[in-house]
Amino acid sequence: ALTQDLAGRHVVISAGGTREPLDPVRYLGNRSSGKQGYALARTAVARGARVTLVAGNTELPDPAGVDVVHVGTALQLREAVLKAAADADAVVMAAAVADFRPTVYATGKIKKRDGQEPDPVTLVRNPDILAEISSERARPGQLVVGFAAETDEVLANGRAKLARKGCDLLVVNEVGEHRAFGSAENEAVILATDGTETPVPYGPKEDLAETVWDLVVPRLAENRR
Ligand code: C5P
Repeated sequence: ALTQDLAGRHVVISAGGTREPLDPVRYLGNRSSGKQGYALARTAVARGARVTLVAGNTELPDPAGVDVVHVGTALQLREAVLKAAADADAVVMAAAVADFRPTVYATGKIKKRDGQEPDPVTLVRNPDILAEISSERARPGQLVVGFAAETDEVLANGRAKLARKGCDLLVVNEVGEHRAFGSAENEAVILATDGTETPVPYGPKEDLAETVWDLVVPRLAENRR
């Protein structure tokens, strides 16, 4: 990288999707590839940061020079992010955290029973990690960045979500073919609490990652190193 503008900073990034087990062989998952979060980790290392990457399900190899913590469920991801966030300058929540998990975990494999329909699956809400770390900053001035994948009313929903979550920056993606989930490319608008709206044109997830850091760095300037 041209600049080491994240030197001396510790950034925590979550990436990938969580898996919420039903029994020892089955889970509820999602289509997150982890690519955006891994791009954030690689670019932050290149800019001099110490990086902790809390990774849910992904097929990507661990990036070089990054402290990677692998997790499965939303509750495990929460534990790992809160622990790493204790001394972090910035926390970026790029993971696709499951909103719900099965109410019960069957310790043995759920069996087919002759002539009987299966029991319905019931779900409970997972905690909203982004809202929690935003409202209870582990350090004064700690910067919190969230992601939002929207299919319609993208900007209006994004502005409402920025306020609701309480984070400093929200990267709003329009979900579609060749964008966001699974793709190497992304297109987004980054909303800030100061009212700034930064459009990021369609392109590699690295470009979006660099723009996120471009917006994070000046907002960290007042914080101690
Ligand atoms: O509410 P929604 O799922 O659209 O919010 C997305 C953002 O919130 C992402 O940054 C995601 O990592 C985070 N999130 C979270 N905990 C949840 C659900 C989402 O931190 N339970």
